[in-house]
Amino acid sequence: PGLYGSARKNSAGIDLTVRSERDDLALAIGKLDRNPLHAKPLGGTDAKKRNQKEVRSPADHSRVVGRTSDATPKDIDAAVARSRKAQRAWDAAGGAARAKVLRAMADALEADRGRLIAILSREGGKTLADGISEVREAADFCRYYAHLAEKQFSGPEVLTGPAGERNLLSLHGRGVFACISPWNFPLAIFTGQIAAALAAGNAVLAKPAEQTPLIAHAAVLLFHRAGLDPDLLSLIPGDGATVGSTLVNHPEIDGVAFTGGTETAWAINRSLAARNGPIVPFIAETGGLNGMFVDTTALREQVIDDVVLSAFGSAGQRCSALRLLFLPNDTADMLITGIKGAMDALVIGDPANPSTDIGPVIDTEARDALERHAERLENEATILHRLEAPEDGTFFGPILAEIPAPDFLQREVFGPILHVVRYEPEKLEEVASALASLRYGLTLGVHSRIDGFADEVARLVPAGNVYVNRSIIGAVVGVQPFGGEGLSGTGPKAGGPNALLRYAVERVTSINI
Ligand code: NAD
Ligand code: ALA
Repeated sequence: PGLYGSARKNSAGIDLTVRSERDDLALAIGKLDRNPLHAKPLGGTDAKKRNQKEVRSPADHSRVVGRTSDATPKDIDAAVARSRKAQRAWDAAGGAARAKVLRAMADALEADRGRLIAILSREGGKTLADGISEVREAADFCRYYAHLAEKQFSGPEVLTGPAGERNLLSLHGRGVFACISPWNFPLAIFTGQIAAALAAGNAVLAKPAEQTPLIAHAAVLLFHRAGLDPDLLSLIPGDGATVGSTLVNHPEIDGVAFTGGTETAWAINRSLAARNGPIVPFIAETGGLNGMFVDTTALREQVIDDVVLSAFGSAGQRCSALRLLFLPNDTADMLITGIKGAMDALVIGDPANPSTDIGPVIDTEARDALERHAERLENEATILHRLEAPEDGTFFGPILAEIPAPDFLQREVFGPILHVVRYEPEKLEEVASALASLRYGLTLGVHSRIDGFADEVARLVPAGNVYVNRSIIGAVVGVQPFGGEGLSGTGPKAGGPNALLRYAVERVTSINI
């Protein structure tokens, strides 16, 4: 096996075509419905009686999935102090010892997957298929980073140098990391950030998105049960503006890992820059305005399948999702007709139903933002097709619209709305450069059977993950290291061989012998 390679296997998941597997999931969902959860601060915090807020399902607002209690500034102080103490021993224990705990966490996630998928579906509105992938991805992150911890953090590397001197290079955790995550991958990204920070030898204060505290609470308890000293991982629930901002402004935080919107990354970056103290590294994975270029040689059925999955899968609530589809004038009408037909076959509804393709969007704020965008499309562009959506909860019927040029969009539209731009093949450079000038750089798709077309598009549109003749979503840990550039993030790529390095400091010792 290579350094990062084939000795490691990704998680297997569940087959929804098997009746007994579906029955097990239905039982787990029923059990959750009878036993609402409570997310509260955990780890190095000092939980006492607190205010509680209800967490309701986005698919049905009458369903209370649980309650949540926010962390206070005092919790954050206590957690930072305890985790700082615990971190030294954790760093000194070395990569192999940390890998053991991360592998135990991966096993624990798989053993508990029915319950986790139930929470993802009820709290996050995830379809069962998306919930299954999400548990797999969380386990994959733990195993992959365990592997990197062993390879990269297992003692100093001896460097070549002059005779009579020994030079050693070693990697260490930075100290206490704040990990701040979004609601759209509330288990996989939440766990992935924590696993990376822990693998590199840090302690973690983890703040989940305010929409999804229950799955985060379940994940932190699993980490603790997998053998992690609770002082090394604290759960800091609460909203971004108060709790998140208190966390990133804490003077004792040694690094911030963030996944979320570009605007939030700017706000955090500004607060970190305003601190007078140690310079804190900021890892930001943010949004995208992702394009796909189709040429006249592309295979019609394949394009239609990949477009519909990339744009509307997970209700378009993936940073990687397709937002701008570039179709050549000659085949555009034929492809649009096919896409409309495939949209009509989508099942929108209860995400806990195995046959559902598209669940709700996360909350009323998200739905209202999409409605405002739909209104703009009605007034300033052309809506080609729109599906009906259920009335309960926060569903939003997918939209296919045509816009005149990429700069109609300036900021990410986070939901199931796909924008088509027609182009003349001779004007490829012009239209691709217009997309690039939006300055996002996350995913890019190309559909063509001409050698060199994908390279040309990728040269014109810089993007972190380029997908040729396939969908542009669903990066697999260790297989498609994931992350963008420009307005889409700083890197390093999640699930890739360099993922841990920004979580670490390098130290060199030179010994005269
Ligand atoms: P968001 O930016 O609103 O929130 C993300 C997290 O930041 C939440 O935990 C939130 O509470 C916190 N937060 C908000 N304001 C804060 C502040 N001032 N200080 C500290 N923390 C603060 O994003 P979201 O709506 O939860 O998630 C959707 C976004 O995430 C989309 O833009 C999507 O593209 C992006 N995303 C990116 C990736 C990627 O890998 N590039 C992956 C998933 C999601
Ligand atoms: N990593 C996720 C995907 O590729 C966001 O869709």
